[in-house]
Amino acid sequence: MKSSIALIGFMGTGKTAVGKALADKLSKEFVELDSLIEQIGGKTIPEIFKEDGEIAFRELEIESVKQVSEKKNTVIACGGGVVLNKINIDRLRKESVIVYLTASPKMILKRTSMDVTDRPLLKVANPALTIQELIKFRKPFYERAADITINTSNLSVDSVVKQIISRLREDEGFNL
Ligand code: S3P
Repeated sequence: MKSSIALIGFMGTGKTAVGKALADKLSKEFVELDSLIEQIGGKTIPEIFKEDGEIAFRELEIESVKQVSEKKNTVIACGGGVVLNKINIDRLRKESVIVYLTASPKMILKRTSMDVTDRPLLKVANPALTIQELIKFRKPFYERAADITINTSNLSVDSVVKQIISRLREDEGFNL
C-alpha cells in the first residue's frame, strides 16, 4: 500500500499551495523538494543555476528525490523538471501516487509572473514563448509519469484538494 503523494507538473500549476493544503487535510507531512535542494546545495536555486548550472541543479534534484522517496505518509511537491530524469519517477513511485497538475500556458504565465518565487528558467526575454516550448517538450514526460491528472486552471486550491482526495479514494493501492 502506498501512503505518500508526489505532485508533479509545470511551474505555476499550484504544486506547493495544493501540496500544503492536501498534507494538512490528510494529516501527512509536507516536503517541498525545491527547499530540500537548497538545503543540500547550501544555496538558493537561482544561485545554483547561476554558479553551477542546470546540470548541477538536476544532480541535486536527483539526490533530494532519493532522500524523500522512501518516506511514507508524506506529500511531496516536486519541482517542474523532476520528470526529466526517469530515475526520479522510478524512485518516487515506490511509496507515492503521482498526481500531475496541469494549467493552461496563459494561466501559468499569469501565476508565475505574480509569484514571488525566483525561477531561473523563466528569466528570459519572452517567458510566454519559453513556457510554450518547455511544456511542449515536457508534456509526454508528465503524462507518462502520472497516475492521476487534474487541470487546475479554473479551480481553487480547495477544489483541487477535493478532487485529488476523491480520486485517491478510488485507488485501491492507496492508504488514505
Ligand atoms: C524548475 C522548476 C522549479 C525549480 C527550478 C526548475 C523546472 O520548481 O525546481 O527552478 O525545471 O521546471 P517549481 O515547479 O516549484 O517552480
